[in-house]
Amino acid sequence: FSRGFSSSAIRQTTIKHLTVIGGGLMGSGIAQVAASTGHQVSMVDQSDDILNKSKANIGKSLQRVVKKKFADDPKGGEQFLSETMGRIETSTSAVACMEKTDLVIEAIVENLEIKQKLFSELDAAAPKHTIFTSNTSSIPIGDIASSTKRLDRFGGLHFFNPVPVMKLLEVIRIPATSDETFNKLLAFGKDMQKATVNCKDTPGFIVNRLLVPYMIEAVRMLERGDASPRDIDTAMKLGAGYPMGPFELSDYVGLDTMKFILDGWSKNYPENPLFRPSPMLDKLVGEGKLGAKSGEGFYSYKK
Ligand code: 3HC
Repeated sequence: FSRGFSSSAIRQTTIKHLTVIGGGLMGSGIAQVAASTGHQVSMVDQSDDILNKSKANIGKSLQRVVKKKFADDPKGGEQFLSETMGRIETSTSAVACMEKTDLVIEAIVENLEIKQKLFSELDAAAPKHTIFTSNTSSIPIGDIASSTKRLDRFGGLHFFNPVPVMKLLEVIRIPATSDETFNKLLAFGKDMQKATVNCKDTPGFIVNRLLVPYMIEAVRMLERGDASPRDIDTAMKLGAGYPMGPFELSDYVGLDTMKFILDGWSKNYPENPLFRPSPMLDKLVGEGKLGAKSGEGFYSYKK
């Protein structure tokens, strides 16, 4: 496992410095994995307060990694932790980070206008070679890229939660993405020690296109009163080998995220019955029951 746990791991790509925009669950996970595989990282968010929380979360997650990977080598674990944290700097200005960056990964709020505005500002500030990517799970990469003049150096890098644990990285190309850019993104994924899959810019790419309809079908099953969340979860874990059942996973991903993805798809593809809105999901989100992060979703997480 030691391969890649030092700066000497950077071999394949020209991407040495990356800027992660958004210090939320995904952004901080991406920053953590990039730093732990030897990349220099700037993590950007709106305030130092948010960034301090993100860094604290990264610290906690790294402790879990260290406990596992350095079980017999506490000194090595300590060194790994401090070196990794040392590679992450924080900033409240994405534009200020552009000068030195080879790759941008955007993981901010799922709002097209806000993403377009951000990328058009970055486009003016970034060096020519810098590649732009989004970690969006529901907005077409092509729509975000259209706000820039670097369509050939634009793509998608879609990670999965929890980023330090999930091995997959979806690498997305739009028609204008150059082969050179795409190959650099694939090599970067390998440097991040992720398994990569190639995807076109289609709704949900591969994983969410299959996973979200499956999760919503579970909610529709509950809406019909066919079975309880606990029984559906048990069935899918023990009968299909999933690590979490669909309700546990919905609560883990966030019901607001699920609803956002589904609403976008049902608006753009009203003829597809798989993308129909779910009254139960809408009701829960309306009541602020967003899953584990809010203390309640399909299950209660209140202590
Ligand atoms: N950071 C570091 N390590 C972590 C971690 C984190 N945030 N979360 C879990 N781990 C580690 C634990 O330390 C543990 O290590 P160990 O094996 O040495 O003990 C290991 O992962 C397993 O964790 P737990 O024992 O706490 O719990 P589980 O065995 O239930 O695993 C899980 C947790 C990895 C989350 C597992 O339940 C799982 O794989 N769930 C499905 C997750 C999934 O499907 N994610 C994709 C969601 S879709 C998405 O993200 C796309 C977006 O666009 C919506």
